[in-house]
Amino acid sequence: MQLAPNKKSIFFQSLGCVKNLVDAEVMLGITQEHNYNFVQEPEEAEVIVVNTCSFINESKRESIDAILDMAEHKKAGSCKKLIVTGCLAQRYKADLKVSFPEVDAFVGTGQYHKILEFIEGKREDDFEFRHPKYVHNENTPRINTQPFFRAYLKVSEGCIKGCAFCIIPRIRGTLRSRTITSLVAEAEKLVASGAVELNLIAQDLTDYGRDLNDGTNLEGLLKALVKIAGLKWIRMLYLYPDEMSDELIELIATEEKICKYIDTPVQHISDRMLKLMNRKVKGAQIRERLSKLRGRIPDVSIRSTVIVGYPGETEEEFQELVQFVRDARFDHLGVFSYSHEENTASYLLPNQLDDKTKSRRREELMAVQLEVSKDNLKRKLGQVLPVLVEGVSEESEFLLKGRHQGQAPDIDGYVLLRSGDVKVGEIHPVKLEQSMEYDFIGRAV
Ligand code: F3S
Repeated sequence: MQLAPNKKSIFFQSLGCVKNLVDAEVMLGITQEHNYNFVQEPEEAEVIVVNTCSFINESKRESIDAILDMAEHKKAGSCKKLIVTGCLAQRYKADLKVSFPEVDAFVGTGQYHKILEFIEGKREDDFEFRHPKYVHNENTPRINTQPFFRAYLKVSEGCIKGCAFCIIPRIRGTLRSRTITSLVAEAEKLVASGAVELNLIAQDLTDYGRDLNDGTNLEGLLKALVKIAGLKWIRMLYLYPDEMSDELIELIATEEKICKYIDTPVQHISDRMLKLMNRKVKGAQIRERLSKLRGRIPDVSIRSTVIVGYPGETEEEFQELVQFVRDARFDHLGVFSYSHEENTASYLLPNQLDDKTKSRRREELMAVQLEVSKDNLKRKLGQVLPVLVEGVSEESEFLLKGRHQGQAPDIDGYVLLRSGDVKVGEIHPVKLEQSMEYDFIGRAV
């Protein structure tokens, strides 16, 4: 990489979800516009930024390990400034300050746009730290770290749902939606730089616009985005099950550019569990919504997530969930063991389950879903679907890989391509010829 002379070198590591990744992309944009060159290796960097996650125990551990690793570069002397940003910093700043004296600054989830001031050691604003309010806009510098043909579009920040198990609203604050004008302007920039697929992200897209109190909503945003010339696929990530309006379902069914893909985290199916989780929906409504989606959008792919081992979950309630997963035939399912997180409402619930039970239930459910998934893949064989060609497939003997509309980036598997005259970043019809556990093998036609 050719580095501009007289600029300082900076390295970023971003952990956690794609919302956090977009924050890192903003920090990258801001620092690159000023006195910094991004470098690929931490040992080459004068400044290291670790953008952390603290959703569940596993993510906290991963973030702490990353800080420990990066602190070694500070000790070795190559790194002059070590900055910790993101959700772990927001949640545990006081403890982290004591445990990691090597860290020069902890940046809250509402302060990442002021990264330069933190690097220069100029900032420490406790009120702003405790009450995150910031959300970027179309004029904020941002570098898309994804392959040129796709990008994430963060439509809002924060959450107003209050699920009992979730720490994110405490870390990221209440809902702040961006305007449609701002989002369209940013989407146009991303498309002008080559993106044909935009993945809309938020804690919950169905809440988009509620805080603006002017009629702004997801349906209006989609209608504006589909008009962007050159944009081919719009994918929505995270839709609350019973808040998908009929108008939204109709738009997904009829608008060519909107991926026939629904990511709707149901979390459980037992009414008692859903109530304890403070979910605003009952099992029957979830079932009804899924059948409505399948009825109106016959080729829809549905992703969901569930939590097993929630406090007090009986074997009977778990088996109700297992049967539901068999019946629901999700195309993709994330199964999480309940994580006991302080400062959440679930933390105080009685009857916390032991780790052994939680992991046994997780494994059982994942085994059920694996069979469902294999079967779902087989049913698609013979179809010719548009596939966005992603590039070289490092993990297989096949040269190229891509995704059809029912496969979101990085989480849902691929279509591996046997042959065909195709170009990276373009959408080609591909015949699905063979299926594996999560991937297809196909031929461009
Ligand atoms: Fe995302 Fe982890 Fe924060 S999942 S919102 S980076 S706690």
